[in-house]
Amino acid sequence: MTDDEKTRKQGISRREFLKDAGLVVGGATIGSAAFLSSCKTAVNPDKTVTLSTVTTPANRFIDPIDGTEWPTLGDLQAHFAETHPYAGDINLVTLDINGVDYTLQVEATDTLANVLRDKLGLFGTKVACDMGQCGTCTVLMDDIATFSCLNLAIECGGKKITTIEGLSDGTILSPIQQKFYDNDAFQCGYCTGGFIMAGLSLLKVNPKPSADEVRLAISGHMCICGNYKKVVDAITGGV
Ligand code: FES
Ligand code: FES
Repeated sequence: MTDDEKTRKQGISRREFLKDAGLVVGGATIGSAAFLSSCKTAVNPDKTVTLSTVTTPANRFIDPIDGTEWPTLGDLQAHFAETHPYAGDINLVTLDINGVDYTLQVEATDTLANVLRDKLGLFGTKVACDMGQCGTCTVLMDDIATFSCLNLAIECGGKKITTIEGLSDGTILSPIQQKFYDNDAFQCGYCTGGFIMAGLSLLKVNPKPSADEVRLAISGHMCICGNYKKVVDAITGGV
């Protein structure tokens, strides 16, 4: 007898228990911060689901050394050159992430994944292997699925970067997120953001992919929970 069957015998399935407890929402959030953070279509309308919203900050240009804020990138650069001429070896990069420009000081060895998580708090991008072998850190770079753990942040200036947080406005799931939800295409959710970004990249160039085309697109991704079939179903469902 499976775990689900055992639990169902006790009056409620494991899945329903998790949903009612809000853990499906929480689990998806673990895997992709914005994935279900704003699910309007709560499974059980009798339950209260605490929604969190993603707010889009305005562009800010802050001197990383003295903390002063400047109205434009040009003003910041001029101030920086004048005030900290000794800091010429400090790397500043402006990253376009989800449509917002962030000017940051980074180390030459900082990966994009590190910067997204550690400097910007965009925890929807996960890191597991940190060496290009699992896909959980996938973001879109100029609409192409890219492992953010393999890209140095200093080299990402001028690229249009989209993370899982950029897919939803914070109140309604994006179509591909909804497809994953409808197909139960996640369990713990840790890998889910990466799969969604890979699927989205494929759908941008091939709106109706075959199952084999989806398998190829997600072939660099690992799901320890073994949810591959449902992921393929979600992505072939189109958006
Ligand atoms: S963390 Fe980037 S591919 Fe695994
Ligand atoms: S859903 Fe758990 S690792 Fe993929």
